[in-house]
Amino acid sequence: MTDWTAIPPGEPAAVRVGLEQRCYDVLIGTGLLAHAPDLIGARLGPARCAIVTDENVAAHHLTPLESRLATLGRHMGTVVLRPGETTKSFAALASLCERLLEMGLERGGLVLALGGGVIGDLTGLAASLVRRGVRFVQVPTTLLAQVDSSVGGKTGINTSQGKNLVGTFHQPSLVLADIGVLASLPAREFRAGYVEAAKYGLLGDAAFFRWLERNWPAVAAQERAALTHLVGTSVQGKADIVARDETEVGERMLLNLGHTFGHALEAWAGYSDRLLHGEAVAIGICLAFELSRELGLVDETSLARVAAHLAAAGLPTRIADIPGAPDPDAATLMRIMAQDKKVRDGRLTFILVRGIGAAFVSRDVSAATVQDFLARRIAVGRG
Ligand code: GLY
Repeated sequence: MTDWTAIPPGEPAAVRVGLEQRCYDVLIGTGLLAHAPDLIGARLGPARCAIVTDENVAAHHLTPLESRLATLGRHMGTVVLRPGETTKSFAALASLCERLLEMGLERGGLVLALGGGVIGDLTGLAASLVRRGVRFVQVPTTLLAQVDSSVGGKTGINTSQGKNLVGTFHQPSLVLADIGVLASLPAREFRAGYVEAAKYGLLGDAAFFRWLERNWPAVAAQERAALTHLVGTSVQGKADIVARDETEVGERMLLNLGHTFGHALEAWAGYSDRLLHGEAVAIGICLAFELSRELGLVDETSLARVAAHLAAAGLPTRIADIPGAPDPDAATLMRIMAQDKKVRDGRLTFILVRGIGAAFVSRDVSAATVQDFLARRIAVGRG
């Protein structure tokens, strides 16, 4: 494991996503947003840029970016969207594509996705479609986007059938992960993003998970060295997997640990504030460990360690932890999961575990086993 805590302040760490002619760097550091136009210009040339962001991010971070681009004569325009998962829709995609064309975005232009996963996924999809594909730069402003969604080129919108069911693979040309901007995130959103970092430890890097167990307090306090290590190790873990399996025909599926259950819970809760994506994934990860334990694959101690750590980070770990009513029911969750992108020949794909840091892809669990398992997990903790 690289020691990212040793990176000196003021110097960005760089992770290369090695995809031959589509390779790019993820820069991780503080103060990157203030220098974004210059960093982008130095790496990608003096292209004119369109910015896509949301109202919340715009309030904190848009003005310096816009004015520096304007000073350089490279600002084409800005699209400010409504925050939240409902923005990942066909309607928002159509309107965004048209607005980028109205601004005069050409093949050589650049689109900057300034925001979290919603902005990154939608902007990446628009960038892959407008003029049959233009370059885009991810400037992730949430922990979730910095450790996961801004890297790897997945783009997408949601439909009534489920999350991210319409999308493309379109790699960014550069990612600027400014860990300084995380200070403006609400604590709940920070914790929800943290799950995606813990996921890298749980799926393939037991030493990183041990580091997280010891260093969560420093991460929660947003100490620079701890955050650099958290984001750097996660991005390196993802970059290595994406370089080997860009379009998710094999190993990349491991990154969906906890997501089959998590997406179903999130869709069932209506993509609402009742359950954030990362919170749904935290419960989903615990369910994946519990199902693995029932199948005799993993021991009770590992399951207890995972649940204890996620709970210590202030995350829900059981279906019963979802606030409010009504409870989900197993049949509904199964119907939602049947739309999962990983369904092949009608069989669900689950990411199961043989231990912490030892995840694998399984297509051997029957729908009946999963439904029975879920029904029992839903019952746990209900009076
Ligand atoms: N977030 C999972 C992936 O990018 O493959």
